[in-house]
Amino acid sequence: MKEIIGVIGAGTMGAGIAQVAAQSGHRVVLSDTNPEQLLRAEQQIKKSIEKLVEKGKFSADSGQEILENLQFSTQLSDHSQASLVIEAIVENLAIKHQVFTQLEQVVNPSCVLASNTSSLSIASIGACLQDASRFMGIHFFNPATIMPLVEVIPGVATSLSYTQHIEQLITSWSKTVVVCKDTPGFIVNRVARPFYGEALRIYEEGLADFATIDWAMTEMGGFKMGPFTLMDYIGNDINYTVTETVFAAFYYDPRFKPSFTQKRHMEAGFLGRKTNRGFYDYKEGSTPPSPTKDPVLGKQIFERILVLLINEAVDAVFMQVASPNAVDLAMTKGVNYPKGLLAWADELGAEWVLDKLESLFSEYGEDRYRPNPLLRRKVREQSKFIL
Ligand SMILES: NC(=O)c1ccc[n+]([C@@H]2O[C@H](COP(=O)([O-])OP(=O)(O)OC[C@H]3O[C@@H](n4cnc5c(N)ncnc54)[C@H](O)[C@@H]3O)[C@@H](O)[C@H]2O)c1
Repeated sequence: MKEIIGVIGAGTMGAGIAQVAAQSGHRVVLSDTNPEQLLRAEQQIKKSIEKLVEKGKFSADSGQEILENLQFSTQLSDHSQASLVIEAIVENLAIKHQVFTQLEQVVNPSCVLASNTSSLSIASIGACLQDASRFMGIHFFNPATIMPLVEVIPGVATSLSYTQHIEQLITSWSKTVVVCKDTPGFIVNRVARPFYGEALRIYEEGLADFATIDWAMTEMGGFKMGPFTLMDYIGNDINYTVTETVFAAFYYDPRFKPSFTQKRHMEAGFLGRKTNRGFYDYKEGSTPPSPTKDPVLGKQIFERILVLLINEAVDAVFMQVASPNAVDLAMTKGVNYPKGLLAWADELGAEWVLDKLESLFSEYGEDRYRPNPLLRRKVREQSKFIL
């Protein structure tokens, strides 16, 4: 008998996570306090399963079975039989505490409890539990049914045996699991910050416009989307808030300083695709701006952003947030980077990366360009990040 999985919150993430678990053969209870949201989630999952059946991903009978294995409920008590409950409700610590305090009264003592939080610490959420040894972060990416990466985050109180069990379980759901430390932004939302931040900085210095920076990163760097196209896609409100949260959580380390340009776009309501206007204009009939396809400028932009990304990936390893392989997997599977940043550093040579950072640091004298000590060590030892 497969485990029974509970998911709390039937919004964007919860509905997707419930579908992933059901497709892996589990009985799933998806709960939400809002019955209309539950109905929407049910319709969305049904539609998605029907599409997968049409595409031949599984048979009509299997599709039917998956839907029959899903139960929708407004009652937290319906999670009483679960062996794992993943919470995906609003990002608010007080409300999450209320839910987990009630949930702990309902589930059996060995049930693993988890949060899909993006920005709150696992320690702070778990603090409301009587037994936090069975509590951890299980961070899916949006859309959960498509994105392969899942970050598993044990908190200071979490027992290793529970972490190992969840690592195996989520891997059996055909996901790529990386285990990381309970630090702000976990892996992806920390290491990816310079992709946005340095692109904005380059624009603010007047070195290039949005279209040219996007062109440099896609054409020269091989990234699927340029930073400004991606920020418009994510939404400037969401992306700015993540940056601001990470900046504050790192005690205002200047490496993560948010940008006035993005803030002003957010304040003006230029949120991106969802408002038809962000860094670009998406209204019908509008003409996209043309990049300046200057290869020298393009190379300069791409290399500047890339070395800052690499420096951040190196820092995550240096500070023991995750292993080098986990950091590379996270960036390729969580945000579709064309290569793992550490494998990229190995390919270019740690010395080359260090030289670029040192020349930026000497030009600007700002901490955001400070090369990581581990990068210096790799140069000294002439060793690679990925063995
Ligand atoms: N949206 C993303 O891209 C994304 C990605 C990764 C992680 N996350 C995290 O996942 C969580 C959920 O995000 P989302 O975007 O799915 O939110 P959402 O707003 O789409 O959905 C939240 C759902 O929780 C329900 N809810 C609120 N309070 C509740 C309660 N007390 N009990 C039961 N249900 C309740 C709401 O009715 C709503 O349906 C957040 O912690 C967020 O940080 C979001």
